[in-house]
This record gives sequence, C-alpha cells and structure tokens, in this order.
Amino acid sequence: MQFAHWCGAHVLATAATKHREFVLDLGAHEIIDYTTQRFEDVVHDVDVVLDLIGGDTLTRSWGVLQPGGILITLAGTIDRSEASRRRVRGVRFTVKPSRTDLAAIARLIDAGTIRAIVSDVFPLAGAQKAFRQGLKGHNRGKIVLRVDGGLSGLV
Ligand SMILES: NC(=O)c1ccc[n+]([C@@H]2O[C@H](COP(=O)([O-])OP(=O)(O)OC[C@H]3O[C@@H](n4cnc5c(N)ncnc54)[C@H](OP(=O)(O)O)[C@@H]3O)[C@@H](O)[C@H]2O)c1
Repeated sequence: MQFAHWCGAHVLATAATKHREFVLDLGAHEIIDYTTQRFEDVVHDVDVVLDLIGGDTLTRSWGVLQPGGILITLAGTIDRSEASRRRVRGVRFTVKPSRTDLAAIARLIDAGTIRAIVSDVFPLAGAQKAFRQGLKGHNRGKIVLRVDGGLSGLV
C-alpha cells in the first residue's frame, strides 16, 4: 500500500474497523471495512487489484476491475478463463529476494518515504511461533526474527 501511494496511485484498502486509522496513516485514501461492507458494492473500474487473501475475496475482485486492468494475487490461483472473459490480466506474484530492490527500498526508508512497521520481534529459536502468528493474519506490521550475534554463523 505504501508503494502504491508512492507511485501516485489513489489507494483503496480493505481493513477491519480497529485498523482504520493505522491504514489511513500508511497512505490509504479510502478504507472499506470488509467486516461490514462488501468491497465490490462500492468499488468499480479500478486499474489494479492486489489480493492478499485469495479464495472468495479473489473471485469477487474480478468484478471491480475495468477492462485492461490487472489482478495480482499473492495468496490465490488465477483463473485464466475468467481473466480473458473480462478482458483483464491476472498474475500470481511471489516475492523473490533482490539486492537491487532491497537497496531501493532502504533508500525510500532512509528518505522517510515509506516506513517499516514491526508488530513483533521473536528470537530465531521462536521462528515456529513467529510463523504461526503470521498465518493467523490481521497482524499490524511485519514479524521480525532477531539473530543474536549477527548472521555470520548462518551464511
Ligand atoms: N506470494 C508472496 O510472495 C507473498 C508475500 C507476502 C505475503 N504473502 C501472503 O499474503 C497474505 C497476507 O499477507 P500479509 O500478512 O502481509 O497481509 P496483511 O498485512 O495482513 O494485509 C491483509 C489486509 O487484508 C485485510 N483483510 C483480511 N481479511 C480480509 C477479507 N476477508 N477481505 C478483505 N480484506 C481482508 C486485512 O485487514 P485486517 O488486518 O484489518 O483484518 C489487511 O488490511 C498471507 O497469506 C501471506 O502468506 C504472499
């Protein structure tokens, strides 16, 4: 969402009521409380959908795109026939580590353009617990693993 804002997009985000102010502060222009409202009833003709949920949320997302738009999912599977029927594109996206991208992101953080929000920090030995917490969803930022003594023993 912060990257979309930085790119100059008008950003509509789905979030629960308790996260409304937090998400607005991160740069969303409009919040749709998905617990009380179906986003497809109020959102139409957007250029890009970034789907972090998959399943039914992904299926309902096709209808909010305008022709020529793109649905990018991080959590679901793209139905190619649905994309072509609606004259939009659908892409499954998976993050890949990139030194160049990370350096660019670090510059944006240094410039204060984007913020890294940390919800929890776990020791490396608590990795399993951290992973389980991530799976629950509804976290308010990133979950970080702390490596005491640096990474020298791991690489
Ligand atoms: N493919 C990849 O490379 C990749 C990379 C990173 C993450 N992921 C996956 O993406 C998913 C989410 O990642 P994340 O934890 O980073 O996301 P997140 O920050 O928790 O954001 C999810 C957003 O969607 C909202 N939301 C939750 N349930 C919803 C629903 N049913 N309808 C509409 N909006 C809903 C949440 O609101 P509230 O929190 O207010 O409920 C929150 O604003 C996870 O499954 C993760 O594994 C994939």
